[in-house]
Amino acid sequence: MPSISKQIKTPQHVAIIMDGNGRWAEQRGKHRVFGHKHGVRSLRKAIAFATEKKIQVLTVFAFSSENWRRPKQEVNMLMELFFTVLGGEVKKLHKHGIKLKIIGELTGFSARLQKKVHAAERLTENNQGLQLNVAANYGGRWDITQATKKLLKLVENGSLKSDQIDEAMMQQALTLSQIPEVDLMIRTGGEYRISNFLLWQLAYAELYFTDTLWPDFDGSCFQFALDVFSGKERRFGQTSEQVRDIR
Ligand code: IPE
Ligand code: IPE
Ligand code: MG
Repeated sequence: MPSISKQIKTPQHVAIIMDGNGRWAEQRGKHRVFGHKHGVRSLRKAIAFATEKKIQVLTVFAFSSENWRRPKQEVNMLMELFFTVLGGEVKKLHKHGIKLKIIGELTGFSARLQKKVHAAERLTENNQGLQLNVAANYGGRWDITQATKKLLKLVENGSLKSDQIDEAMMQQALTLSQIPEVDLMIRTGGEYRISNFLLWQLAYAELYFTDTLWPDFDGSCFQFALDVFSGKERRFGQTSEQVRDIR
C-alpha cells in the first residue's frame, strides 16, 4: 500500500502505453510499420525526457501478449524492429547510465532475440540512472498468473503456508517487484483502456489519456502529462481533509 504521506509532485515511476503508431502511418498513406519506426523515435525522446526530469523508472508497453494476433507480417516486422533497435541502442543506453529490463514472457521470442535481451540486461544491470522496463510479450494477467505459480511452488515444497500469502508477497513475486509503484500511467492514441498492461501495479496510479498518437508524443506532451499529474490529490482511500492534514 503506498504511503499517504507521499504526496509526490514528480512521479517516480511512469508507465506508458505507446499506442497509435498504425493510425499515424495510415493517416500518411503508409504501411503500419512506418508508424512503428517513428514510434521508436518517440521512445528515444521519452527516455531522454525522463532522464532529464530525474524520473526513476519508466515502463513502456511495446508488445502485448495479445499483439501476436496481428497479421503475421506486422508481427514479424515488429520482431525485426525490436531486434534491430535493441542491438543499435543498447550501447547508447548504457552510456547514459540507463538500466534496461525487458518484462514479459521472453520464451515467446526467438532464441536470437532472447540472447540479445539477456546481453543487454547484463550490460546495463549495474547502472544507477533511469530504470527502463520494456514490456514485451507482456500481459498483466500473465504477470499475476506467473506470480501465483511461483508462490504455489513454495507451498508445494513446504517452505510457505498458503495462509501466509499476503499482498506484499504477491507484489514480490510480480515482475516489477523491486520497483516503486506506478505513479502515473500515460496512454496515447485516444483509447481509454488498459489493454492488459500492468493490472496489479496500476491499482493507485493516476491515469492520463491523450488523443495524441504515439509518434507525435514529444517532450512537451510528456511535460503536460506531468503538469496534470502534479495537480492531482492522491488520497489512497482517505478523505481530502486527512490528506491535507498530513502535508
Ligand atoms: C501501438 O500502436 C504499438 C503496438 C501495439 C506494437 P498500434 O500498432 O496499436 O497503433 P494503432 O492503435 O493501430 O494506431
Ligand atoms: C496496447 O495497444 C499494446 C501496446 C501499446 C503495445 P493495442 O493497440 O494492442 O491495444 P488495443 O488492442 O487497442 O486494446
Ligand atoms: Mg493500438
